[in-house]
Amino acid sequence: MGVEELLRDWDGELLASRFDASTGAWLLIGVHSTVLGPGFGGTRMNVYPQLDDAVRDVLRLSRAMTFKNAMAGLPFGGGKAVLAVPEMPRGEDRHRLLERYAGLIASLGGSYLTACDMNTSSADMDVIAGRCASVMGRTEANGGSGSSAPATALGVYHGIRAGLGHTTGSEDPAGRTVVVQGVGAVGEPLAVLLVGDGASLVLSDVVADRAEEVSARLGARAVRSGHEYDEACDVFSPCATGGVLNAGTIERLRCRVVAGAANNQLGEPADADRLADAGILYAPDYVVNAGGVLHLAGYERLGWSADQTRARLEGIADTLREVFAAAEAAGVTPARAADDLALARIAAARPD
Ligand code: NAI
Repeated sequence: MGVEELLRDWDGELLASRFDASTGAWLLIGVHSTVLGPGFGGTRMNVYPQLDDAVRDVLRLSRAMTFKNAMAGLPFGGGKAVLAVPEMPRGEDRHRLLERYAGLIASLGGSYLTACDMNTSSADMDVIAGRCASVMGRTEANGGSGSSAPATALGVYHGIRAGLGHTTGSEDPAGRTVVVQGVGAVGEPLAVLLVGDGASLVLSDVVADRAEEVSARLGARAVRSGHEYDEACDVFSPCATGGVLNAGTIERLRCRVVAGAANNQLGEPADADRLADAGILYAPDYVVNAGGVLHLAGYERLGWSADQTRARLEGIADTLREVFAAAEAAGVTPARAADDLALARIAAARPD
């Protein structure tokens, strides 16, 4: 699909682009919706085969942010930026590229707010902050909120509790078995929270040493990456990468609930039906993993206190209960129910 067709099919508001001749990078900002507030979403830096691929990514990701921010109850719409680079810039080249990009953000007059995403760091956000105010995720030394991973982990923890409550009648993880796929910045603190509640943990990671090291420390059991799908458990928690729920893996799952941090867990929309057909409750990824945006937007931008932020992270469980109830009432999957609820929130806020 070429750029023209991609744009025709997109239901967003604005695509801004600039070409940086000195690095050969395309700077793309997609503002999908500003109905609930300025479009908010991170900046992804990546090497793409062609410009079309970068445009597809920014349009798709900015739309996803509209749904995520709406379900998080934030006064922000959806946006995303892609810096499509021929190779990862370093040093002075990177600095200049980020300053140029900050100029593009500033030219949008506050309709887009950025933060870190794949291949961009808090240090990069500090550079952008030197040229424009529409940025979150700066370093703590520069007034930012630091890593969002612990908040994401706490949000997922509350999501798991809601999933257990819905399927077993008790939210208490004590005595339950949880498989955590990916023990990185989110997976590890999530495992710590669950072990603290008396859950039995099974951990996997493509870096096998990491899964073994964390397991030994927490009294969990490590399994080889790829074998976690076959483990009998109450909750399967994808905290590694996207696309892990597909026809091949779903038929192997032996859990009641899927709830985890990874973005875009479903390989395709039909995987939501496959999970439902297998009798597995799916907690939609963008609802469960909203801890990151709540931390950034709430704590850093909106000035919430630590207690307010914690309460909002706990509120992810309430949102999930609403999603599960709506799904049952309408006879649709939780993924579909979450999309419908997000669209309803946006429609209710539309001025006309
Ligand atoms: P991370 O990079 O710190 O950890 C990911 C871990 O998963 C690493 O230990 C890696 O070795 C492992 N891994 C990668 N592919 C794997 C596979 N196929 N099977 C098993 N293990 C694998 O990333 P982080 O921050 O913990 O994020 C985890 C997921 O949650 C990512 O998909 C991320 O996009 C998503 N997410 C993270 C947020 C945050 O605040 N950090 C917010 C929202 C979503």
